[in-house]
Amino acid sequence: MNAPVTIKDETAMVDIREIGVIGAGQMGSGIAHVASLAGYSIKLIDISQDQLDKAIGTIQRNMDRQVKREKISADDRDAAMTRIETGIDYSSLKDADLVIEAATENENVKRQIFETLCPALRADALIATNTSSISITRLASTTDRPHKFIGLHFMNPVPVMELVEIIRGIATDVQTFDAVKSVALAMDKTPAVSEDCPAFIVNRILLPMVNEAIYTLYEGVGSVEAIDTSMKLGAHHPMGPLALADFIGLDTCLAIMQVLYEGLADTKYRPCPLLVKYVEAGWLGRKTGRGFYDYTGDEPVPTR
Ligand code: CAA
Repeated sequence: MNAPVTIKDETAMVDIREIGVIGAGQMGSGIAHVASLAGYSIKLIDISQDQLDKAIGTIQRNMDRQVKREKISADDRDAAMTRIETGIDYSSLKDADLVIEAATENENVKRQIFETLCPALRADALIATNTSSISITRLASTTDRPHKFIGLHFMNPVPVMELVEIIRGIATDVQTFDAVKSVALAMDKTPAVSEDCPAFIVNRILLPMVNEAIYTLYEGVGSVEAIDTSMKLGAHHPMGPLALADFIGLDTCLAIMQVLYEGLADTKYRPCPLLVKYVEAGWLGRKTGRGFYDYTGDEPVPTR
């Protein structure tokens, strides 16, 4: 169970006060949620105003849920919501002390973002990426400040999961590491430091398990229901691996497996062909209404 979220004393925040978050999907909105509750001013940026409006709705609903469960007070929620501003223009990040990039798990998309982002930032602003698998050193080299660039990897759902991975690139300096670690602690997260290796720690272990569950389905060893029930009741996982795959997003699962497969050059990381097919079909899990389950009704229904 997550510890109650409380507003932090501003003195604990080093010199980070304003945080930009790029990408208003499930990770970006979750990061904006916990960062605003921790007392930071947030600029949430996306290319789509529609996506930003949806993200604000999601954050409001998730904070309402926390109020209902007495994790935060209604005043904390209201104050946090007023600290979040949205925009589609990087010029609003001119005063940001730290920008956390949480766009799609696609290296070209991230490169393009950093290219446009860097000239819009103060020279001393830090950049963190929420990439779940891509080399921090390689991403850092596409910016004008590799020493002020770091990996800060949150878990989904961000308001609930206690962990954040911190990953230094080869050039990341100690001030950047310390500042970003303080931000993670202020957000009530427990940091774990990972070396800059493909998929870091959590996904290096978790995603091959998810991929293996998809192979188990592909080879007809069990149905969706049998596989998920087995891992929930037989290994006490909070969700079965196929439900988890849908929750993470099948496109993200595939992207991570490809990074492991290519980065470690080992066939044991080969993405399951069924995962590839689902992504090709646009069946990306919960976010598209269909993956290993169909989410269009009241309850998820297994599709195989
Ligand atoms: N925001 C705020 N609170 C939320 C929330 C959200 N988005 N989603 C759930 N919650 C809260 C609920 O309010 C509830 O709080 P209480 O304990 O106070 O009642 C609690 O979380 C549990 O929620 P539910 O009762 O609705 O549902 P549940 O018991 O089935 O739990 C779950 C939901 C927390 C998601 C749980 O199923 C779980 O832990 N699943 C595994 C998640 C996981 O493995 N995440 C890591 C994915 S990998 C990753 O993120 C890395 C990557 O790069 C791919």
